[in-house]
Amino acid sequence: MADRIYHPNAELAKSAHCKSFDEYKKMHEESIKNPEIFWGEIAKQFYWETPSSNDKFFSYNFDITKGDIFVKWMEGASTNISFNLLDKNVKCGNGDKIAFYWEGNDPEDYSRLTYRKLLEETCRFANVLKSKGIQKGDRVAIYMPMILELPVAMLACTRIGAVHSVVFAGYSSDSLAERMLDSKAKILITADGVWRGEKQLNLKKICDDAMDKTKLHNHEIDTCIVVSHLRRLANPQGKSTTDKNQNGINGTSNGKNCELNISWNDERDYWWHEEMEDADTSCYPVWVNAEDPLFILYTSGSTGKPKGVLHTTAGYLIYAATTFKYVFDYKQNDVYWCTADIGWITGHTYVVYGPLANSGTSVLFEGTPFYPDNDRYWSVIDKYKVSQFYTAPTAIRSLMKFGDEFVKKHDLSSLKVLGSVGEPINPEAWLWFYNLVGHGKCSIADTFWQTETGGHVITPLPGATPMKPGSATFPFFGVLPELLDEDGKLIEGEGEGYLVFRQPWPGMMRSLYNNHERFQTTYFDRFHGYYCTGDGARRDADGYLWVTGRIDDMLNVSGHLMSTAEVESVLAEHPFCSEAAVVSKPHPVKGQCLYCFVTPNDGNVFDKKMQDELKKLVRERIGPFAQPDIIQHAPGLPKTRSGKIMRRVLRKIALGDKNVGDTSTLADETIVDLLFQLRPQQA
Ligand code: WTA
Repeated sequence: MADRIYHPNAELAKSAHCKSFDEYKKMHEESIKNPEIFWGEIAKQFYWETPSSNDKFFSYNFDITKGDIFVKWMEGASTNISFNLLDKNVKCGNGDKIAFYWEGNDPEDYSRLTYRKLLEETCRFANVLKSKGIQKGDRVAIYMPMILELPVAMLACTRIGAVHSVVFAGYSSDSLAERMLDSKAKILITADGVWRGEKQLNLKKICDDAMDKTKLHNHEIDTCIVVSHLRRLANPQGKSTTDKNQNGINGTSNGKNCELNISWNDERDYWWHEEMEDADTSCYPVWVNAEDPLFILYTSGSTGKPKGVLHTTAGYLIYAATTFKYVFDYKQNDVYWCTADIGWITGHTYVVYGPLANSGTSVLFEGTPFYPDNDRYWSVIDKYKVSQFYTAPTAIRSLMKFGDEFVKKHDLSSLKVLGSVGEPINPEAWLWFYNLVGHGKCSIADTFWQTETGGHVITPLPGATPMKPGSATFPFFGVLPELLDEDGKLIEGEGEGYLVFRQPWPGMMRSLYNNHERFQTTYFDRFHGYYCTGDGARRDADGYLWVTGRIDDMLNVSGHLMSTAEVESVLAEHPFCSEAAVVSKPHPVKGQCLYCFVTPNDGNVFDKKMQDELKKLVRERIGPFAQPDIIQHAPGLPKTRSGKIMRRVLRKIALGDKNVGDTSTLADETIVDLLFQLRPQQA
C-alpha cells in the first residue's frame, strides 16, 4: 500500500485554492520564471506604508565566488507586520472573529481571543515594552509556555520593530543564557511556571539562573516580565484583564491549587498583569523596512554552537501567508490546529504568523498528547471541530502505540487536511494517519522545511498533488530544488544526492545573527551557487522527492534537531570523562536517539553512577529532550591514524551490525571488537 499513489479527495479539490496538479505546475513555473510578478501580485494583499520599486523587488547572490551572499525582497518597501495581521483584520470586519482558542494542559482550562482583543493586548504590551526602554532593533528574549501572552509578546515586538528571540521553554538555563548572550537580549519575558501533563515546571527559576549566568559574562538583563500563569489558574476569579464576556486572555479554569514559590528581584522583575493594567490599548505601529530583522531563532549547528537564524520582514510575511494558505488549503470558516510549540520555527510560522496573516482561527494548545489520557489530541479536534491538523511523525508514532480505540472514540469528521513536519514520516505512520485519523478522505501534507527556510519548501498541496506515503513530493512556489553528487555535479532524473536550492524564495533566512561569515560557510561554501540544506534526498522515476535525512553530524530526536558535537562537548565536561563520541541510532518512536560512547579518565570506573550523571548533565546543559538513550563504555574510540573518529563504525556498533566495512585505516583495529563486546544489553 505504501507505494500506491493517493489522489486528493475530489470534493476537496473542487474548492481548493489550487485545484489540480496542472494548475500547481503552471503556478510553480510562473513563480520560478517571474518571481517579481508572482510575489508582487501576492504582496498586494498586504498594506505597505511605502511600496517597493519594481526594479528593486528581488535581488540576490548565491555564489560566494562572486562576492558576499545576500537575499533581498521588496527593498524600499516599509510596513508593519502586526498592523497587517491585526489592525487590517479589525478594519475589515474580522474584529469579533476568534484568532486563538486556547486549550490548557487541563481540559477545564480554556479561553479564547478575538482579533480585536488580540490587537488591544498587543498594543498594551507594546506600550509596556516601550516603557521599559525597548526600541526598534532591540532584541527581546522570550521564554514562555504555550499561553496567549506568547503570541501577544511576539506581536508587540513587531509593533515597535523590536526583534524577538523566542527560546523553547524546554531548554535549560544554560541554553537560554547562551542564546541571550549571543543575541545580546535587553529584556526577558517569561511566566511563573507551567504544567506539562502532571509535571510542573518552574520557568521563572530557570530564567533566574540564566540571568545569573549572563551576568557572569558581563551581560546584564535588567528587566524580566513575568506572566502570572499558575497563579491565574489557581485563582480564576482573580483580578487583571479578564473580559468575562469574551473569556479574554484569562479564560476559565478549574481553580486548582498550583502556585509556585518563586523568587523575586524587585529591581528587575515585573508582573505582566501589573504592567498591563494601566497600559494604553492603542499604539501607533512603527513602520519598518522590508529587510529589517523580524526575529532570531536559534537552531543547532554542527560545530555545537547554536546558530541565530535571522528572518526579516516583508519576504517572511508573504511567504508565511502564502504557504499557510495553499499547503493547508485554509478557508475562512476553518479551525486550524498546529501542535508545535511556538519555541520552534513551526510554531513561529504556522501557529503565529501564517494563520494570522490569513485571518485564521487556530487552537493554541498548552498540553501534551497523553494528558489526561492518550486521546487528548483527538478530543481537542472533536471539541473545536478542527479542519486542519498539523503535527509531527514522532507524535503520530507514539500515539499509534496505544491502539485505534482512542482515535475511534471521537468524531473527527471535521478534518480536511493533515500535516506532518519535523522528520521523514515512515509509510506505516503515514498510512495510520491517513486511514484512521483522516478516514481516507484527507490530504496529507508532508511538509519538508527548516528553521532556515522560514516556511515549507517541499510539500504536496491538498487539492492538487497526488501523494506517495513518505514523500514530501514537490517544491512549493518559488523553490527550485536540485540534487548534487559529492563533486557538486547535478543529478538529473532518478537518483540520490545532496538536497540544495538554486534560487531564493521570499521566506528564507538572510543571515546568522551577528555572524554573516558563518552563514556563508555553513550554507554556501559546500556547493557554489546553491543553498545547501544539509539533508540528503532521492528523486524517483516520477520526479517525487524523498528526503532521507541529515548528511552532516546532526541528528533529529523527536523532531528536535541537535548536533553530535554539542552533546559530545557536554559529556566531555564531566570530570571523569576523557573523551566522548555521539552517534544517532534509529528509534521506533523518536525517529532517532542518542547513542554515546564514553571513555573514562585513567583511574575512573565506568559505572551506573557515571552513566546517570552524564545523562543528567546533558539534560541540564541542553534540555530534557536531549537526554541520551544509551551511554556505552568505550576504553578507546575507533580513530584513523590522523586522529579522526570513524563515526560510521560507531553507528554500526550502535546498531549491533557486525558488517562494519573497511577498518584498515584505523590506528587500532582491535578496538572495534572490544566495543562490540561492551555493548550494553538494553542497546
Ligand atoms: C528535518 C523544522 C523529512 C530535516 C521545520 C530538516 C524533515 C530538519 C521534514 C529541520 C520532512 C523537517 N521530511 N525531513 N517533512 N521536516 N525535516 O530546523 O532534516 O527544526 O533539515 O525545522 O528537520 O529542522 P528544523
